[in-house]
Amino acid sequence: MRTNQPTTIHLSEYKVPAYLVDAVDLCFELFDDGARVHSTLSVRHNPESTEESAPLALDGDSLKLESVALNGKELAAGDYEETDEQLVIAKVPVQFELKVVTWIEPQNNTRLEGLYKSSGMFCTQCEAEGFRCITYFPDRPDVMARYRTRIEADKNTCPVLLSNGNDVEKGDLDNGRHFVTWEDPFPKPSYLFALVAGDLVEKQDTFTTCSGRDIDLRIYVEARNAAKTRHALDSLKRAMRWDEETYGREYDLDIFMIVAVDDFNMGAMENKGLNIFNSSCVLASQETATDLAFQRIESIVAHEYFHNWSGNRVTCRDWFQLSLKEGFTVFRDATFSADMGSSTVKRIEDVTLLRTAQFAEDAGPMAHPVRPASYMEISNFYTLTIYEKGEEVVRMIHTLLGPELFRKGSDLYFERHDGQAVTTDDFVRAMEDASGRDLSQFRLWYEQAGTPELTVSDNYDDEQGVYRLTVQQSVPDTPGQTDKKPQHIPFALGLLGADGETLPLTLENDQNAASAPVERVLELTEASHTFEFHGLSQKPVPSLLRSFSAPVRVVYPWSREQLLFLMSHDSDGFNRWDAGQRLAIDVIQSLVASTETVEVEPRLVEAYRSLLGDATLDQALVAKMMQLPSEAYLVELANSPDVAAIHRTRERVATYLATALRDELIECYHRNTGTDVYEITPESVARRSLRNTALAWLLMINDETGRDLALAQLSAADNMTDRMGALRALVNSDYASERTQVLTDFYERFQEDPQVVEQWFSVQASSDRAGQLPQIHALLEHPAFDWKNPNKIRSVVAVFAGQNLAAFHNPDGSGYEFLADQVCRLDDSNPQIAARLVTPLTRWKKFAPAYSALMRSALERVRDKSELSADLYEVVHKSLES
Ligand code: BES
Ligand code: ZN
Repeated sequence: MRTNQPTTIHLSEYKVPAYLVDAVDLCFELFDDGARVHSTLSVRHNPESTEESAPLALDGDSLKLESVALNGKELAAGDYEETDEQLVIAKVPVQFELKVVTWIEPQNNTRLEGLYKSSGMFCTQCEAEGFRCITYFPDRPDVMARYRTRIEADKNTCPVLLSNGNDVEKGDLDNGRHFVTWEDPFPKPSYLFALVAGDLVEKQDTFTTCSGRDIDLRIYVEARNAAKTRHALDSLKRAMRWDEETYGREYDLDIFMIVAVDDFNMGAMENKGLNIFNSSCVLASQETATDLAFQRIESIVAHEYFHNWSGNRVTCRDWFQLSLKEGFTVFRDATFSADMGSSTVKRIEDVTLLRTAQFAEDAGPMAHPVRPASYMEISNFYTLTIYEKGEEVVRMIHTLLGPELFRKGSDLYFERHDGQAVTTDDFVRAMEDASGRDLSQFRLWYEQAGTPELTVSDNYDDEQGVYRLTVQQSVPDTPGQTDKKPQHIPFALGLLGADGETLPLTLENDQNAASAPVERVLELTEASHTFEFHGLSQKPVPSLLRSFSAPVRVVYPWSREQLLFLMSHDSDGFNRWDAGQRLAIDVIQSLVASTETVEVEPRLVEAYRSLLGDATLDQALVAKMMQLPSEAYLVELANSPDVAAIHRTRERVATYLATALRDELIECYHRNTGTDVYEITPESVARRSLRNTALAWLLMINDETGRDLALAQLSAADNMTDRMGALRALVNSDYASERTQVLTDFYERFQEDPQVVEQWFSVQASSDRAGQLPQIHALLEHPAFDWKNPNKIRSVVAVFAGQNLAAFHNPDGSGYEFLADQVCRLDDSNPQIAARLVTPLTRWKKFAPAYSALMRSALERVRDKSELSADLYEVVHKSLES
């Protein structure tokens, strides 16, 4: 375990490494009671380093050092210094070979960093700093080496032995053991190293690249999961083709492997040629995975595959540059998913996450820029800001440059930096050089934290036919950052006429009014801009920030008429949805604020009614539009939110709407239900989504027909989407005995399947009916719950604190105390997960005083825990000190 007072690392103190490693030769002897790691490094002084006779300092964590030899000569104890975190050799030649032998205990590794065991299988997770838990090494991404890895293990328990690259040698050893040697021809940073050893079955496929090379694709899983690999393999092939066509990127090794493991801190990891996946992010079958899970698997498989270029061939110079690979790769996988399905729906989902969770992060105590300036524990910086805001930043470059110049820019980036460890600035420079555009002001997106706010006002001059739009921007203060400069913001907009038609946008200096476009991307660079649109015979309704062209908040005094109008006429699908959300938010907020019982806006009811009845609309979009803004988003939008009041009001509005729309909901359910065979096409996914949305509404009002439909659907379902849709609706209803019954039946049927049991936990933990604190305690005592498995912890504890807001924010503080207890308990076994889990408490400042005091005291209790990990230390202290 690390020291208690972690040090802060600053970007400004970056220095090139004093020593480089050209080659690494590893030999792993794997046993039941531990593993011996022999490492041979070819080291030389870095010619770019000014530290001439610097000591050699290697990182290490939880290692037992057995021996060190330099150029074949064993070092004596006085020749080197061993601390908790480093092995230092004061005097080394300019070039030498270093042999280090360490002993580690994968079977006792509960942090799941480095080499550990999951369901009897050895596996690794090295990003960001896990390689140092395997052997001593300069564990930083700008040290890139060629790896050769020999694995020796028992042939019975570990018939499959995998590492990066190609297998070059294999054979039997004494005592029922065997070995395989792997060689990766591409130099890589240590964080991309991987090893897997276990009893796995192999599922095989092939992909022929654009240049005609046959790539051997393999997925390795435990035998019981053999029937759940098809979707991932198909997704992989689609991603490989897409990256060739869209980015001109071909795969580079002859073999690409994916391994599924049950115990994994994250979703998946892009190790060179050997991606390791959390089982829940790769295994799927019709019976066990929902449509959402299928889509998520497709995008994660693509994401990790895309890293082969954006991350592996071109990697990060240091961890401050993390968004260089993550933001860019999320942009790549989002574009891929948009191309595979409905781009509007994909955009709605991504923006929902961004606005609900990233905006909250950006307004909270851990707010940081896309390229942070400092950190204590890097694993705390795999954040929504690095990923989702980082994606938006790349997307804005794409919007500003247009697709052709963006592609020229990415080609230049990959060509110029192939084999290098670079910075976000190198990425932006490649985009500038390829396009001729100046992005110097745009770079502020990487440096300034906080969500910019755009305040928009307008007026119409009917004598001149001129519509003026003024946009003012400001960037809020964040911890350690004040007085921010205006940013360069692409602001897409359209104007709608009285009949809903899109109007030509003729700016004052436009020569050719006749060919004026109907959509424009205005570029905001100053604190205030006024745009004049000419030749308009009526006051238009503005459609602002189309497709969410920048990660900003837009404030404009929309009237309910305007929102209703946009909701049914905007040609931008995203903004159509957004208008509906804004209207619902306005209705809910006005009811939260008022003390009398006011009627729910009748025009909202009618808008939903026409949505439900309109079979000509994209049904996937209808299903999205039929969803009320989440409690979490309503909380995010409020100042000093009273969570209980928001919860009650949202329920009241939902109940009112469902009562008014009951017949239409039943009709919609039947229209979207039939004897259709299960397929994962956009049309059938939309049908299932819509019928399950209708069920959820009906059960909100405890409708008997709805209940019967749900029970019938549950027993007839041939797929998990329908089964889960019905289960969720029933669990969230007041039919208490049905709820208990269906939960019991469901568990009995699927208890052998960990991925389904995780969904079963989540449905309960997120429900205000089935997930009150005593029931959550019972889930933790359930035989299927496992404190060593991050998925189980997430599906109960994180889902409770993040999705069951009314229960978590119980005014008596019990939800907070509960979370503090679980965080403390977990910190001793898995600090990364503990630090993530504590997030909801860190937002204490936002809430109304009574809540906030209780949250703070729960957080102080975590702070005062003995032997606090570095991970938790950073999050808790920053939150309390802000
Ligand atoms: N490189 C990360 C995985 C990672 C992150 C490992 C932090 C160790 C520490 C991987 O490429 C990734 O980003 N995975 C995401 C899913 C992805 C679809 C955004 C994840 O694991 O959540
Ligand atoms: Zn990633």
